[in-house]
Parts: sequence; structure tokens; C-alpha cells
Amino acid sequence: MPRQFCVGGNWKMNGDKAQITGIMDTLKGATLDPNTEVVLGCPAIFLEFTRSNLPARFGVAAQNSYKVAKGAFTGEISPAMIRDVGCDWVILGHSERRAIFGESDQLVAEKVIHALQSGLKVIACIGETLEEREAGKTEEVVFRQSKALADAIGADWSNVVVAYEPVWAIGTGKTATPQQAQDVHAALRKWFAANVSQAVADAVRIQYGGSVTAANCKELGACPDIDGFLVGGASLKPEFIDIINARM
Ligand code: PGA
Repeated sequence: MPRQFCVGGNWKMNGDKAQITGIMDTLKGATLDPNTEVVLGCPAIFLEFTRSNLPARFGVAAQNSYKVAKGAFTGEISPAMIRDVGCDWVILGHSERRAIFGESDQLVAEKVIHALQSGLKVIACIGETLEEREAGKTEEVVFRQSKALADAIGADWSNVVVAYEPVWAIGTGKTATPQQAQDVHAALRKWFAANVSQAVADAVRIQYGGSVTAANCKELGACPDIDGFLVGGASLKPEFIDIINARM
């Protein structure tokens, strides 16, 4: 079965109700590739607002969730809460969460398994820093991150989308070349075949993220192992429509 193309927008800590309304109007008014799944990663405080103003054709994702359902964890939100306001996705392990908020592979994995067990679908992010790439450690890093996920998830990856986001490409305007991205995606798929199963390797969708724009999305999206994108900056702009339609 071909893997369904999946494009996520990661709004990060951006937007207010007025701006989000504008983005939603653009999305609702656009002609979108019916074969592309679209998921919008929205600040927690606007999840319910966004969900209630968009048709079901669009998934709405939180950008983080904690590893347990409730309790004394001031400032955190749980998968149960995300589901309670009608959303069914969460982005976990984004490099900003890892680098700025100190999230380890282990914590990310614990969050992922709790989110899956709570009925959420997960976009799980991995990727190497510039220093790691220059040291020739790209595969070592993304395999280590994948192993932490695989140890927690086990055999069933049906509700997981992997986002490969080289940290040096995020928000920098420096996109990985299609070949650089394709090479890592293909290596990841091989790793999944060897360490999880051939079925998961064949079926799991691997998004590319890092300075994806309307100008570079077609070439990236034509790579055989790139199954969509996770888009930051450009997901706040009308060009996000062109990115959703990269394969149209
Ligand atoms: P960018 O961000 O598209 O602005 O580089 C991607 C991301 O952080 O998911």
C-alpha cells in the first residue's frame, strides 16, 4: 500500500486568534490535494478554538504533552486533555523541546507511548545538529533517537509519523538537499526493517522538516522515501497551500 502523504504545520509559539482565523480561512478556501493528510500543530491555548473552526479534513495537533494523564505537573497538559477538546494528534520530541527544554530521548519516548496509549496520533521528531552532521554522526544520532522510540512503541507504529528534521535546517533557511534528506530517510527505513519490522519500515511515514518552502517542496516531495513535511515558518503563510499540494 502506498504511504499517504502527510503535511504538518508547526505554528510553534506563534499566532493569536486573529492570525489563526486568517490561516484557517486560507486553508478552508483553498483547493487541496485530496490525497494529502494535513495536520496543524497549534499552541495549546488555541487547540479548542482551532479544532472547532476547522472541518474534520484537517487534523489538529498539540505541540507537546506530558507522560501521564493528570497530577501535580504545573504548566503541563496531558493527552487526555488534548482529546477532551477534540484533537487527536500531538507533536513530540521537536528539537526545540529537546534543546531548549532539555527533553531526553527517554522522556520523549515516555511521552510518545503515553500519548499513543491515550489514543492520540503522534508526530515524533528526530534529527541531528550541525555539529553531529559535520562529525559524520547523522545516522548514529537518528538511529539512537529511533531506538529510544522503538523500545517504547514496540511493534505497532500505525499511529506514528516520524519527522526527520535536521536541526541545522530548522528556521535557518538552509534546507537539506533532496539527496541529503532522501539518504537519511532511506537509512531510517532500513533501520526500521532491521530493528522493528519490514512491515513498519514499509508503512511508516517519514516527514522531512527544516526550511521547507513552496520553492523547494516539489523536489523534496518527489523523493521516494519522503512522505510529507513538517513545516514551521511557511505554515503561517499562504505558501503552506503549495506545500500541501507538493505532489499534485
Ligand atoms: P521551519 O521549522 O520550517 O521554520 O524550518 C520546521 C520545524 O521546526 O518543524
